[in-house]
Formats: sequence, C-alpha cells, structure tokens
Amino acid sequence: MLIHFPIVFWAVAAVAYGLAAAGASESIVLIAKFANGAGLIAAMLAMVAGLLELRFIDMSSEAMRVATQHMMVMATVWLCFLLALLLSISTGLERSSAQLAAGACAGAGFVLMGVGGWLGGRLVYEFGIAVKTRRDDR
Ligand code: HEM
Repeated sequence: MLIHFPIVFWAVAAVAYGLAAAGASESIVLIAKFANGAGLIAAMLAMVAGLLELRFIDMSSEAMRVATQHMMVMATVWLCFLLALLLSISTGLERSSAQLAAGACAGAGFVLMGVGGWLGGRLVYEFGIAVKTRRDDR
C-alpha cells in the first residue's frame, strides 16, 4: 500500500527536474524539490514495511536473493534522489550545472526505480511474498 506514494512523488520529481534542467521556471524547481522530499520520506516508510516483511522469507531461498537485490536497488534509488535534492538546494554550485546534475541523478533514480519495482513485482507475483490466498482464509 505504501509503495505508491514514493513512486508517484518521485515520478513527478523526475519530470520536474528534467524540465528544470531544460531551463523551466523557478516554480518547477520548487515542485521538484517538494515532490522529491515527500518521495524520500514516503520511501522510508515503504522501507520499514519492506524490512518487516523480510522476516517471513526463508533466508536460503531464491525469494530472499531477489528481496536483497530489490532492497539494494531501492536503497540506491533513495540515495540518487537524496543527491538530487542536495544538488538542487545547494548554493555552492552554479545554478544551471546544479540543475543539470540534479536532473541526471533524478533520471538515474527513476530508471533504477523501474528495475527495483520489477524485482518487487517478482517477489509478489512469482514467489507469492505477502500474498494472502483463499486457502489462508479457511
Ligand atoms: C529496505 C527497503 C525495502 C525492502 C526490504 C523491501 C521489501 C519488499 C518485499 C519483501 C516485497 C514483497 C512483499 C510486499 O509487497 O510487501 C516488496 C514489494 C515491492 N516493493 Fe519493496 N522493499 C523496500 C523498499 C521499497 C521502496 C522504497 C519501494 C518504492 C519506491 C518499493 C517498491 C516495491 C514494489 C513496487 C513492490 C511490488 C508490490 C506489488 O507488486 O504488489 N520497495 N518489497
């Protein structure tokens, strides 16, 4: 349930960072920063939920291997967007270079989020992690 929030916030942020790097107005930069900040916070909640779910996966299973990959990729995504935020609020860099670098980080984070999401999907649809079956209800 929680994962939809970081995905939407970061998707908005990535588009806004892209527009900002292309020279869009200061209000677009503001949207990018706020959407990114909200994505970073929402992702932390998704990470806590994900870490709690790990307890129910067999340590030596293929599902745990995929879960570990998923966790590593999502942690990298988080760092990419954190870097984008730091670059967009930093005052040390020249404005256009900072926007360009922030756009590149957000773009990389967005692409990696697709990879991490696919791995998360494997956990649910291939390995049935956190899936309640009808038999469970009986
Ligand atoms: C420490 C970090 C994380 C861990 C350990 C983790 C772990 C898991 C686990 C165990 C699942 C399968 C069961 C479930 O749905 O609960 C899952 C699914 C998923 N996770 Fe994560 N997760 C983490 C972070 C994230 C973040 C930050 C996002 C989003 C930006 C995310 C996106 C997804 C997606 C899209 C799925 C598939 C859900 C579905 O298809 O229903 N995860 N994750």
